[in-house]
Amino acid sequence: MYNRTIMDHFQNPRNAGDMENPDGEGTVGNPSCGDVMTLYIRVEDDIITDVRFKTFGCGAAIASSSYTTELVKGKTIDEALAYTRQDVSDGLGGLPPIKMHCSNLALDALREAIKNYRLKE
Ligand code: FES
Repeated sequence: MYNRTIMDHFQNPRNAGDMENPDGEGTVGNPSCGDVMTLYIRVEDDIITDVRFKTFGCGAAIASSSYTTELVKGKTIDEALAYTRQDVSDGLGGLPPIKMHCSNLALDALREAIKNYRLKE
């Protein structure tokens, strides 16, 4: 069901774990399955310099989150906001259609974290 890239991110997730005193933090749930994701960002001069995630989610959600953290690290806030779930799926070599909704979790958590960061600013 999952290709090698997805399995690699699932089994060796990048940037998984906590972050102390993040600049922004977002938690979202996936209404279609009940899975939950929290994402933390560190921001300097409008650049996302570090990002971490924690999830109670399926393999596709873990792989999507891992890939998303790699995608947005080093990007500006606006560049990070421009990514779509199709970008995440493409970068992973294609999520199965039935798992596309799982890729929303990380991006939605990222948007919440950015919203939280902007509120603190
Ligand atoms: S089935 Fe819940 S995020 Fe994938």
